[in-house]
Amino acid sequence: MKEDRHAIEVEDLVVAYGDKVVLDRVSFSVRPGEIFVILGGSGSGKTTLLRTLVGLMRPRSGRIAIHGQNLTAMSDEQQMEIRRKIGMCFQGAALLGSLSVADNVALPLREHTRLEESTIDIMTRIKLELVGLGGAGELLPSELSGGMRKRAGIARAMAMDPEIIFYDEPSAGLDPIVAAGIDELIRNLRSTFSLTSVVVTHEMESVRLIADRVCMLHRGRVAGIGTLAELEGSDDPYIRDFLTRRPAESDADETEWARSLTAVD
Ligand SMILES: Nc1ncnc2c1ncn2[C@@H]1O[C@H](COP(=O)(O)OP(=O)(O)OP(=O)(O)O)[C@@H](O)[C@H]1O
Ligand SMILES: [Mg+2]
Repeated sequence: MKEDRHAIEVEDLVVAYGDKVVLDRVSFSVRPGEIFVILGGSGSGKTTLLRTLVGLMRPRSGRIAIHGQNLTAMSDEQQMEIRRKIGMCFQGAALLGSLSVADNVALPLREHTRLEESTIDIMTRIKLELVGLGGAGELLPSELSGGMRKRAGIARAMAMDPEIIFYDEPSAGLDPIVAAGIDELIRNLRSTFSLTSVVVTHEMESVRLIADRVCMLHRGRVAGIGTLAELEGSDDPYIRDFLTRRPAESDADETEWARSLTAVD
């Protein structure tokens, strides 16, 4: 009963590369339909966390539940079934360069469904319209601007009508106006489809525009969770420094920590 209130529950998640622990007993839960932002500095473990949530990495220990179903206790086939309800936007959009934008968006439908080609065509067009790329289906990814490429990645993540969507740095590397357009799209998709949205970012502007709640990661641990206003009132100096973009006193430690993680590999 408790679990029905959460779209995602993560409990004591530990993820390591070799013997280097990158996520250390991370716990949080995401409510249905909220925009939950994972915020943290470079190397704090944000991408690793997303990759683990979508099943590209296996945790060493801990529990991940999606809509109350414990993924970590399931077979790979059972996990696949749940993961069909999850869309993922990769940081670099990860479009296939040899396929048109429309074929990139259609790919998950061709691979995971037995829908007629005419149905796939309509669904693809709807998804492209949805992200503002209505006229761009026949273009190749190389013919798109940075913002259009992100939109195409979002259309592909939406192809299978997911209930949950993950975005890895959706507005990184874009100019402020284009980035704000992506933020607006993330908000619109959430309100149109009640889409539970988990957004990894380090851009404070985005956080202010989109976040219902924020989970702050620091060195692989959760430093704080709450609304932005709650975190801004935190006593934790690292959280306050990060939110106000002050250089952290512990910068040298930071570098040392990152080095200790990468040294083995
Ligand atoms: N394949 C890998 N093998 C070994 N260590 C890795 C690997 N990928 C990431 N790491 C280490 O794990 C830590 C977390 O990396 P991760 O990419 O999750 O961070 P991040 O928060 O997404 O950083 P960024 O903001 O730079 O994208 C880093 O210190 C990194 O060096
Ligand atoms: Mg990353």
